[in-house]
Amino acid sequence: MERHYSIAIDGPAASGKSTAAKGVSKILGFLYIDTGAMYRAFTLYMIEQGKDPKKEEDALALLPAFRMNEDSRGHVYLFDRDVTERVRERDVSALVSYACAYKAVRERMVEIQRELAKRTSVVMDGRDIGTVVLPNADLKIYQVASVKARAERRYLENQRKGIACSLAEIEADIEKRDYIDSHREHSPLTKAKDAILLDTSDMTIEEEIETIVSLFRKKVGESWKDTEQSR
Ligand code: DC
Repeated sequence: MERHYSIAIDGPAASGKSTAAKGVSKILGFLYIDTGAMYRAFTLYMIEQGKDPKKEEDALALLPAFRMNEDSRGHVYLFDRDVTERVRERDVSALVSYACAYKAVRERMVEIQRELAKRTSVVMDGRDIGTVVLPNADLKIYQVASVKARAERRYLENQRKGIACSLAEIEADIEKRDYIDSHREHSPLTKAKDAILLDTSDMTIEEEIETIVSLFRKKVGESWKDTEQSR
């Protein structure tokens, strides 16, 4: 059976994980899985159904009917609708930390994520990938950046997309999400013991990608070369 590889990239909100993960997955030919998008899609579903993500009973009532998908281009579908852009908007960002904190919601998403990783080699980004979802990942990265650097990146990204916002608002949102994500009861954001800490505050995206790819090649060494050669 062909050997499947996995790279786990965890870290706080807006630390550049998804851009790095996408770049790495392209170079290595792995599937990129954005786990935050799954929680975001569920949050959007709750909002659209007129439910309150701050109420656990509302989340539990909707969970059984919830269906989502991600394709190899990183697009996210709520049922059959492409919500890739929609789930990045501020209403979803402001409420996702609540919806993703419930045990049953996390269990369901982890199940979907592990299924995906069984089928092929993956680069998965999130908060609990190295600690909970893929504890045996071949490489674990814990990616951090200062609040200032993260807010500036998100601000420029929003400007490019034409989403109106202020830098101060983004900084406040990021700080609030960091707090909720690292203080929740179930699978809080923490660095796995065997994860490599990568501070990207002063790195370009190209440097991030190169660093992760070379760490991966070093880590898996000969077994990776064998697989490449056998293709
Ligand atoms: O990475 P992101 O900003 O798209 O994540 C959205 C939210 O989902 C964030 O508040 C943390 C949460 N999340 C999580 O709890 N576990 C994951 N594996 C991924 C994201």
